[in-house]
Amino acid sequence: MDAAGSRDTTQGFGDTEAQRLRDVAVAVAQEAAAHVRSRRPEVFGTVGKVVAHGSSVASKSTPTDPVTVVDTESEQLIRDRLATLRPGDAILGEETGGAGDSVAGLRWVVDPIDGTVNFLYGVPTYAVSVAAQIDGVSVAGAVVDVAAQATYAAARGYGATLTTVEGRIGGLRCNPVTDVSMALLATGFGYGTARRKAQGALIGEILPRVRDIRRIGSASLDLCMVASGRADAYFEHGLGPWDWAAGSLIATEAGARVRIPSPRSSSADGDLVVAAAPGIADELDALFTEVGADDPIRET
Ligand code: IPD
Ligand code: CA
Repeated sequence: MDAAGSRDTTQGFGDTEAQRLRDVAVAVAQEAAAHVRSRRPEVFGTVGKVVAHGSSVASKSTPTDPVTVVDTESEQLIRDRLATLRPGDAILGEETGGAGDSVAGLRWVVDPIDGTVNFLYGVPTYAVSVAAQIDGVSVAGAVVDVAAQATYAAARGYGATLTTVEGRIGGLRCNPVTDVSMALLATGFGYGTARRKAQGALIGEILPRVRDIRRIGSASLDLCMVASGRADAYFEHGLGPWDWAAGSLIATEAGARVRIPSPRSSSADGDLVVAAAPGIADELDALFTEVGADDPIRET
């Protein structure tokens, strides 16, 4: 790595298992991201307008929780590629499930589009997220920002990187922030009304105590923002494992202090996910305890 913290893409990765899994995650996520990028104008038009609905969009957990035909296509593409590159591995995907409750051994955890509402509206902040977990612990992962064509990746113990559209690779580190009152926090909201009401009340407590809050609409990219210093911390209740499996590892490998749910918990349990720059992690923990953010926000 040069003094500017970047190196040429032609330099190969090492050969440990975690690194091999990361390289598979990167290849598969980049291919799915290219598919998602090419399909958006075909299905929804070139500008922000949602021009086609009908059979292209359906609802999931609530009427506001969308799944598009492209989410389904992206997940199928990822499943097909993993079946070729890693035959026999278990896969848990947001749209078609699989892997059941079993977290034993190696499984791939896939979000084919994280930020589907943004994808639908043409807000250019959505990602493909692919992680490899062993016994429920993320050991490798990739998050590809579809519109920016940027790839965040990590292998456990080997750091986190950002590869830009130009092909430059840079190592990721969290910001050296030390004061929560000067921290930029990212967050997100679930799709159910009861959870949203509780999340809104928490924001009312936290917003006056920090620099500001961002809600960009893609949990995996929120976690990568903490890794790259575009945010100082991120928190959200009630994520699915596909939302955090890759991004939490990328944040951890960039130096963040990360709290994730137990591997068997689901979105309905409403557990808290946090990634914080290390210099504010203790103070943020204390703030979250004070305002009741440690408690789960279950979906009722
Ligand atoms: C959602 C996004 C959003 C977060 C929600 C997630 P989806 O994922 O990550 O930012 O706030 O909790 O469900 O539905 O776009 O895959
Ligand atoms: Ca999704």
